[in-house]
Amino acid sequence: MTNIHAPGADTPTYKNASQSFSPELLAAIRERFCHVDHCPFTGKRIYFENAGGTLTLKSVIERGSEIASIPDNEHRNNLASHAMSQVVTKGRQALATYFGANEGDSVIFGGETGTECLFRLIRAASMAAPTGGSVVACELEHPATFDATVQWARRTNREWLKVPFDTASGRVTAADYEAVVQPDTRVATIIHTSPVTGMVQDVAEIARSIRTIAPECYIIVDGIQHAPHGALDVEAYGVDGYVISMYKAFCRFNNGYAWVSPRLSIVDHDRLAGKPDNVWELGSRDPSALAGADEVVKYLEWLGSSFTDSILRRERLLAAGRAMHTHEKALVTRLIEGTEKLPGLGSLPRVKLIGQVDSPYREGTISFAIEGINATQIVAYLGEHGIRVHARSDDAFSGNILRPFGLASITRISLAHYNTPEEIDICLQALGTILTEH
Ligand SMILES: Cc1ncc(COP(=O)(O)O)c(C=O)c1O
Repeated sequence: MTNIHAPGADTPTYKNASQSFSPELLAAIRERFCHVDHCPFTGKRIYFENAGGTLTLKSVIERGSEIASIPDNEHRNNLASHAMSQVVTKGRQALATYFGANEGDSVIFGGETGTECLFRLIRAASMAAPTGGSVVACELEHPATFDATVQWARRTNREWLKVPFDTASGRVTAADYEAVVQPDTRVATIIHTSPVTGMVQDVAEIARSIRTIAPECYIIVDGIQHAPHGALDVEAYGVDGYVISMYKAFCRFNNGYAWVSPRLSIVDHDRLAGKPDNVWELGSRDPSALAGADEVVKYLEWLGSSFTDSILRRERLLAAGRAMHTHEKALVTRLIEGTEKLPGLGSLPRVKLIGQVDSPYREGTISFAIEGINATQIVAYLGEHGIRVHARSDDAFSGNILRPFGLASITRISLAHYNTPEEIDICLQALGTILTEH
């Protein structure tokens, strides 16, 4: 049994972590994913675009296609319909364990995308809160919460207040929120991990600070970029809504899912009149989507079983989260610090890293600018070397985050737990070549 001692994602002390998965375990992990080193359109490639969408588990596709081929809907009195209901129930249970939801009154529902789930929660909270007051968001957020808060503050006649983030660390803290939140703040949003700076926030601490000033505030969290890098623990955060997106968590482009606290679950919201007042699902479930969620959780349970002796599913998921985090931390450190033979991103000339070089808060993503070369060119050059990364620019998705940095664009390398040290070295080699040639 391998022992990895790593704390939860909100208390990172991984600075010197160097323990990656063993080569055997890494090979077994990679074997379980589709297109791990090969793109059907461009050929052999290294996948470092995980923040855009992670690799998909083979089991998700296999089981999902099997279930998707069945036409029967739930709630009919025949065996096929009963079987579909079982798949849906198992998927719901798996998601509850994944979120870390207690059995009881909280609710999980699936929507079109993560964005749609976040808009629905922010709309319902804004409509339900007492009149007046403010809605608070941080400029580090994705438009899924940033834009939703602006729109629903306007539509419910509330002030919209913006929390600035710290450009040196690429993070926002409880103190930053405390400077903005008012006693009559009705709704506040938090991004758990930023897809641009790659940094994780201490959600529980921020939520505690908000509640100290505005105890009744509805707090809604975008967990979409944290989910692929560590375990979720919604009951511990002290918030009212938490949203994930399955294509960013080893599944397909199918649904976003929201966990909703008991008190937010029963506010007036769009629902069929004949259903209980805490039901948020609208229309038929796609059993193949829930089968996919179940396969993700089964995979994490398998991964976690190498790191804990517990037979409890939740314990195994927590162990998987810690192990993924530690492996990714080792990869990130290698990318920034380099190896004996290769200089790392932190010491390459003309490279400006987003966030501190030795930040313990990075979750798999490193963003940087190179003086004299546009990020879209770097993406193209790395693409020619068979390495897929992404550029974030001053647009509808990242403009609010890049403007405080004074940067028009950045290159983003985003890793996941199935990436290897060899892939990092190939990337460093390619970056060295690009810098010499351009
Ligand atoms: C932090 C964050 N929030 C929200 C979204 C949007 O997710 P979806 O495509 O499921 O709407 C993304 C997608 O990149 C994201 O990174």
